[in-house]
Amino acid sequence: MRPLPLSGLRALVTSGPTREPIDSVRFISNRSSGEQGLAIAVALAAAGATTVLVSGPTALAAPPELEIIDVETATEMNAACQAQLPVDIVVCAAAVADWRVRELSAAEQKMTSPANPPVLEVIQNEDILRELSRPGPRRPRLVVGFMAESRKVAEHAAEKRVRKRCDWVVAKVVDDAQRRQPPLGEDCRMVLVSRAGVEWWPRSSKAEIADRLVGRIAEFFAPSRAVLTGE
Ligand code: CTP
Repeated sequence: MRPLPLSGLRALVTSGPTREPIDSVRFISNRSSGEQGLAIAVALAAAGATTVLVSGPTALAAPPELEIIDVETATEMNAACQAQLPVDIVVCAAAVADWRVRELSAAEQKMTSPANPPVLEVIQNEDILRELSRPGPRRPRLVVGFMAESRKVAEHAAEKRVRKRCDWVVAKVVDDAQRRQPPLGEDCRMVLVSRAGVEWWPRSSKAEIADRLVGRIAEFFAPSRAVLTGE
């Protein structure tokens, strides 16, 4: 029997939204379902990689064979990811909240409805993808980021790949209406940008996108390293 293409490799996937508390009952978050990250983790595991999924809060049921670390905030997600290093493969599919509320301790009590609306001071969250892409002995061999873009998708993905120092960026092509109200479960066109160039993928479901990405990852780690290189 042939070994699975990613056996012997360790993979880490981030997925879902993060929740940034405003007070003890309110939070800042986004509409991410976590479906894409879960599909990628399942596909990596099926290809033989020992896979850990670090996930923000979602309504999804993950298969029992997948190791899942549940987190809420971006800070927790970052710490959970760093604790998994070293790994060979990272796929950052999480929709990480850009901001968290500063000085939360002052607002930890549930806010009542004051006469004047409260002013929230926010600070930027850690960029988990950028941290994982940081050069050094613990850098994973392949780091993949995700994004969504409506215009000049390949150009923006190429810029993001360089800025975040990851190896590949997989970008979802969305129109402006979808950006405002993302359709659940809708097939999407995608583009994969690597140092080697740009590859357009046909309109696909999340499961097909996951399988295609994991196919590319398997090629990357195959001895012949035929198609895309991360260096
Ligand atoms: N990411 C992350 N940590 C953050 C922000 C983003 O790990 N604090 C990762 C996401 O998981 C994804 C990629 O970075 O892999 C997305 O980058 P981002 O700059 O947030 O792109 P967009 O989602 O397209 O957002 P924007 O339109 O603001 O550029």
